Amino acid sequence: MNMSRIKMWALAIGFTIASPILTQAQPNADEGKKLYEANNCGSCHALDKKVVGPALRGVHERRSEEWLVKWIRNNKKFRESGDADAIALYNEYGGAAMNIFENLTPAQVLDIVEYIKTAPAPTAPKTDSPVGTVEPQTDSSTKYILLILVVIFGIVLMVLGRVKNTLRRVAAEKDPSEGEFLGDNRKWYLKMLPSKLAHMNPTVLAIFITLAVALPGAWYGYKFAITEVGVQKGYAPTQPIAFSHKLHAGELNIDCKYCHSTVEESKSASIPALNTCMNCHKGVQATEKYNGEISPEIKKIYAALDYDPQALPGKEYGNNPKPIRWVRIHNLPDHAYFNHSQHVVVGKLQCQSCHGPVEKMEVVQQWNTLQMGWCIDCHRNTGIDAANNNYYAALHDKAAKDLKKNQNNSQYFGPDGKVKITPAMNGGLECAKCHY
Ligand code: HEC
Ligand code: HEC
Ligand code: HEC
Ligand code: HEC
Ligand code: HEC
Ligand code: HEC
Repeated sequence: MNMSRIKMWALAIGFTIASPILTQAQPNADEGKKLYEANNCGSCHALDKKVVGPALRGVHERRSEEWLVKWIRNNKKFRESGDADAIALYNEYGGAAMNIFENLTPAQVLDIVEYIKTAPAPTAPKTDSPVGTVEPQTDSSTKYILLILVVIFGIVLMVLGRVKNTLRRVAAEKDPSEGEFLGDNRKWYLKMLPSKLAHMNPTVLAIFITLAVALPGAWYGYKFAITEVGVQKGYAPTQPIAFSHKLHAGELNIDCKYCHSTVEESKSASIPALNTCMNCHKGVQATEKYNGEISPEIKKIYAALDYDPQALPGKEYGNNPKPIRWVRIHNLPDHAYFNHSQHVVVGKLQCQSCHGPVEKMEVVQQWNTLQMGWCIDCHRNTGIDAANNNYYAALHDKAAKDLKKNQNNSQYFGPDGKVKITPAMNGGLECAKCHY
């Protein structure tokens, strides 16, 4: 009796302990979605469309869970173990290899499968409407010029009206029968003028008005010529190949650094060589859109590399490549120095904080002015994590001492009363840091 009681309790306790583990083992679609994104599955797969790899919707109907776990974690080992389906699939895709994901546990793979199983189907047929594209920011200078022209035109009319009235008055003095025109038959726009102005000598009025127009005009011209020339905010030239960041960096979610591969090590981010494109575009030819023909845009990549997709293996590349000349968009003057690795690695800034939402741009455009004031503003306002970065050790010590000494009056407090250390405090405003 007693023994069975104990057994019962032991069972109950065991069950309570095990139950969270049991429920945890249930695949979780939300987790799966996160893992799918974090591992960039989307750079080669879509749910409803063949991309580099197969469309994944319904894959759980084609393959067993066990098969999927083995495939996704290490498709190479799986193929080498002799699995016929795995080998057939690999051959079907012309040897385009999927990455190894041994970082994923089997349970995590099942989370991903659960996500694929339960992901909502696309609601509306996908159109090419520019939803989410970024409108190029138009230049407002033409608007100003028009406005100025309208004002000048209005003033010329006014002055002419005055002159005409004066002539009439003179005529009326000579011949009073003209007097009937003299009443208050001034044009409506003259009636609107203060009476002092309306009775002014037309020449004085003309000079006065000319000045009133000329001064703002000259000021605007000065400002435009001095400070706006060479500033290319919004510049979005047409490129020799219609390469879309919205598609590659947005929908396919390819990491910026996959293509701009030097951005963490060097001053410049660099534009990728066409060979980087070929990692995918040997296979991806967008033929569905062009009735089985290779996309004309992708043919441009092939032409530039002198690559013949029909040639025998080993003979695809000819010896007459012609490099693609991408049009450079961002361009600081020679006297200014800018370093990407400093900002991306040391400063831990996102590309988007300077380049805007590139992953939504069909055509890349310059998002900021790149003027000196823009650099300086950010250096004054951005906080840096001085505590956890050796690069700032000296500054960090200095700030710590100052905080101890001056307490709440320390210059290292931001307006919100929290400690704030900015690049400006680290010499980010010194001319020589940015000028050769
Ligand atoms: C570099 C491109 C690439 C990435 C990244 C990638 N795959 Fe694949 N995947 C492929 C290719 C290509 C195939 C087709 C088989 C082959 O050629 O190896 C494939 C096949 C598959 C299959 C089998 C589909 C079927 O119809 O049987 C599944 C499932 C799969 N991938 C899931 C994933 C998951 C999940 C991830 C992310 C963890 C992922 N893939 C990341 C390229 C990729
Ligand atoms: C698949 C490769 C690829 C990926 C991924 C990619 N880019 Fe690009 N990027 C290019 C190519 C090619 C160009 C040159 C053609 C153009 O301007 O569209 C370019 C141009 C640019 C330019 C303009 C360079 C200039 O001339 O001044 C910026 C800025 C840029 N990319 C930022 C990004 C950011 C930010 C991301 C990530 C969100 C990203 N890129 C992801 C290939 C890529
Ligand atoms: C990780 C894979 C990958 C890389 C790298 C890549 N692309 Fe793509 N690209 C794709 C996929 C997938 C598509 C969509 C194909 C489709 O619509 O069927 C595509 C579409 C395109 C298209 C549109 C084709 C059309 O006519 O619709 C162009 C142009 C293009 N890529 C150019 C490039 C260039 C240039 C590079 C190198 C700077 C590059 N791609 C790098 C995967 C990639
Ligand atoms: C979005 C904010 C931002 C913009 C815009 C920006 N910077 Fe910076 N900059 C930083 C941050 C944060 C640091 C601190 C990281 C570091 O010290 O490397 C920094 C550091 C620097 C440094 C090193 C200062 C030092 O001694 O550590 C230089 C030089 C510099 N920037 C130049 C420029 C130039 C030139 C421009 C404009 C073309 C510019 N920056 C635009 C945020 C910005
Ligand atoms: C602090 C601001 C800032 C950040 C952050 C930043 N850039 Fe830039 N980027 C610039 C400036 C300024 C230029 C113009 C440089 C020049 O003309 O010398 C530029 C130029 C470029 C170019 C043109 C080619 C080149 O190397 O000059 C590319 C491509 C580019 N950036 C990509 C990126 C990518 C990708 C990231 C994120 C990993 C990034 N940038 C982060 C400010 C920034
Ligand atoms: C954070 C970086 C930075 C610092 C610090 C900086 N400059 Fe600049 N400066 C620039 C950039 C970037 C340009 C180019 C901007 C452009 O083309 O409009 C520039 C342009 C100039 C120009 C050319 C005029 C113009 O507007 O094109 C002069 C002159 C100049 N800087 C002087 C100075 C002096 C003097 C100092 C020190 C008090 C200084 N700069 C500090 C980044 C900086």
